[in-house]
Amino acid sequence: MRFPNDCDPMASKTGIDLTARQRSRWATLIDERISVQRDLPWRRTRDPWGILVSEVMLQQTQVDRVRHAWPLFLASFPTPSACAEKGQAAVVRQWEGMGYHRRAVALYRCAVKIVEEFEGIVPESEAALRSLPGIGPYTANAILAFAFERDVAVVDTNVARILSRAVAGTPLTQRQSQEIADDLVKANKGWAHNQAMLDFGAMVCRSSPLCDGCPLKKSCRWARSGFADPDPASKTAGTARPQAAFAGSDRQIRGKLLSLARAGRQNLEDISELEKEVGELRVQRLISSLVDDALVKVTARGLVLR
Ligand code: ADE
Repeated sequence: MRFPNDCDPMASKTGIDLTARQRSRWATLIDERISVQRDLPWRRTRDPWGILVSEVMLQQTQVDRVRHAWPLFLASFPTPSACAEKGQAAVVRQWEGMGYHRRAVALYRCAVKIVEEFEGIVPESEAALRSLPGIGPYTANAILAFAFERDVAVVDTNVARILSRAVAGTPLTQRQSQEIADDLVKANKGWAHNQAMLDFGAMVCRSSPLCDGCPLKKSCRWARSGFADPDPASKTAGTARPQAAFAGSDRQIRGKLLSLARAGRQNLEDISELEKEVGELRVQRLISSLVDDALVKVTARGLVLR
C-alpha cells in the first residue's frame, strides 16, 4: 500500500518528504550495504569511561591522533576515580598535542562529578550523561550507543552529510537529521550501525564525496538529481566548515602559552619574547582567555597550570 504523505504520521513529523516506507527501505539498505570498516582501538572495548574519553577526544581531534593519544590517556587515568585523584594539571599535561584544551578541563571535571555523584561509575541515562561537563547531546548519544549498545542514532557532521544527500536530498536542520537518523537504526544493531555510518561519512560520503563505487549511489537522492547544485550537505546544520588556518592563529598562540605553563619553569621572559613577536595586547588577551577557561594561573614566576 502507498501512503500519501499527508496520511503518514512519520512523514509529517519533520516536514521532510519521506514516508515511513521510504525510511524503512533506507534502514534496510544501510543495514545491508554499509558496514564497519576501521579497526579503531576504542571499538574493541565497551568500557564506558574509555568510550567517554574517546568521544571527548574525537569531538575536535582527528582519528589518527586520537588513535595514539587514547591508550596513553587511559594508561594514566584508567578510571574516573584515578583521573579525579591525579588532578587537573596532570590531565592538561597529558592532553598535549590534542588542541582545544578546554576539553581537558571538562574531562577532569567530568571525572570529579562521576566520583562525587555517581559512585565513580559512568551513568547510563541520557539525562545523567548530559549533566556531565563537556557532554552535549552528540557525545551523550555516542556513549549510549558505543558503551551501552543502545539503539540511539549518533549524528555528527559526517552522518548529517549522508542523511541530507542520500536520504533526504535536501538540507536538514539538526533536529531533522536526528529524527531521520533515529528511524534508520534497526533494533539491537545500534552499535554497528552507528560505527558504520561514521566510517561511511569519513571514507565515502566525505565533504568531497567519492561517489564512484558508492554502495548507495543508485538510491542516493542527490545522485538521482544529477548532483544538483548546491550539495544538500552544504547547508545542513552542523556540517563541517573548513577549520581556520592554525599558523599565526590565536589557537596556536594559546598552545604556545600552555606549553610554557606545562613545562613548569619560570616563563616571564618567554612571555615577553612572545609579546614582542605577536603583540603585547594579543598575548595578554590570550592569557586572560586561558585563565577564564581555568587552564592556567598567573603567578610571580609566570604562567602555571591550574
Ligand atoms: N568520531 C566520533 N566517534 C567515533 C568513532 N567511534 N569512530 C570513529 N570516529 C568517531
